[in-house]
Amino acid sequence: MKVLMVNGSANPKGNTYRALEEIGRTLEAEGIAYEIFQLGGGPIRDCIGCGRCSGEGCVFSDDPVNQFIALAREADGFVFGTPVYYAHPSGRILSFLDRVFYSSSSIFAYKPGASVAVARRGGTTASFDVLNKYFGISQMPTVGSTYWNVVHGQKAGEAELDAEGMQTMRNVAHNMAWMLKCFAAGKEKGVELPKTERGVKTNFIR
Ligand SMILES: Cc1cc2nc3c(=O)[nH]c(=O)nc-3n(C[C@H](O)[C@H](O)[C@H](O)COP(=O)(O)O)c2cc1C
Repeated sequence: MKVLMVNGSANPKGNTYRALEEIGRTLEAEGIAYEIFQLGGGPIRDCIGCGRCSGEGCVFSDDPVNQFIALAREADGFVFGTPVYYAHPSGRILSFLDRVFYSSSSIFAYKPGASVAVARRGGTTASFDVLNKYFGISQMPTVGSTYWNVVHGQKAGEAELDAEGMQTMRNVAHNMAWMLKCFAAGKEKGVELPKTERGVKTNFIR
């Protein structure tokens, strides 16, 4: 089993990375592999709503979106981590996830997801809420912890000093591991995936 994470900060080894690393180490101790996908500091397009998504993902392949989609197909669970910018998630993670989910949401269904927000002081729960919305519309069980999944720190390295934040990260990992093991056991026993209805789209009330 493998959990694929996204570091929504351009800082490859900043506070968001450290929060994700704490989750990863705990998952490994539970026998679950992890990978942290770095968005890096290069440009990431937003979705232009062209509707030309394909089985490969987004029509644009000049940034990491389609590379992530290929990895996501094989992953069993997800963690999306973001620094807080002006009380919302980073622009790059929103541009990235909009295109990932608009083109390929079916590959995430029935796989658990957790989000993590990292800030100096304010805007964590608002940012956490925004990222959780990708899960709700994609049939993904959302993984919680013993507090909302937030960590405080400003300069790289400060996340480590937030003892409760780090504990919250370890607990979200334990909860993710438990959920993944339960799903695997259910599959083994022949529990079928839910028979969800599709096809009805009411864009306005007639
Ligand atoms: C453009 C910008 C906006 C920010 N806005 C906030 C904010 O609204 N609230 C806050 O507490 N910290 C804010 N910060 C601080 C970062 O969230 C904080 O330093 C975080 O630890 C950075 O994570 P990183 O090391 O993974 O990049 C902001 C930082 C930047 C660069």
